[in-house]
Amino acid sequence: MNNPFRLGILGSGTGSNFVAIADACAAGKIPAPVALVLSDVETAGILKHARERKLPAQFIPPGKFRTKLDEEAERTFVGALQGARVDLVVLAGFMRVLKGDFLRAFAGRIVNIHPSLLPSFPGLEAWKQALDHGVKVTGCTVHFVDAGVDAGPIIGQQTVPVLDNDTPDSLIQRIHGAEHELYPRCVAAIARRDISVVGRRVIWKK
Ligand code: GAR
Repeated sequence: MNNPFRLGILGSGTGSNFVAIADACAAGKIPAPVALVLSDVETAGILKHARERKLPAQFIPPGKFRTKLDEEAERTFVGALQGARVDLVVLAGFMRVLKGDFLRAFAGRIVNIHPSLLPSFPGLEAWKQALDHGVKVTGCTVHFVDAGVDAGPIIGQQTVPVLDNDTPDSLIQRIHGAEHELYPRCVAAIARRDISVVGRRVIWKK
């Protein structure tokens, strides 16, 4: 384990959570450098944002599957993260499920953010699931990644109200606002070694 902790951030899309985390690192609110940014999508905004910040950023072709990495891609991702001496893998809108060898290489050291209050609404378009279900409160969850989908011990959650006139667009924007507060706070706590995991429960020491 390096001191300070080194972050590897993976994303497939816009990269707004990456921006929130990278800015918190640059401001010293997260005591950890971003060592590497990786994407399975060559045109992903997250790579553009990383390069604008002069952070090492790399596209790695994901291989032939739609929802997971193939074996070669998995080896390349893990090799790149190990080569950059990454301590914590931060999934920020990475839209592929991580499997065996990747999970083993970074056991207990992978975190994810999901746009609902898990265990409600795992999977795709969680905010639309929440609207369709008619819940009055939803939000976002940061959790450790294990072999399940959107499972693993919950580190933090932040709620947002669902308003009567919400559309999928207005609701996901409100959730994004909460994500940009919650994710840096959780990553900072991990980098400071301020949390411990007891069974499924994540305990905040401060
Ligand atoms: C975020 O809303 C995140 O919760 C979601 O992808 C979005 C990425 O946005 N992740 C998942 O749905 C994972 N199951 P961003 O690229 O702007 O950070």
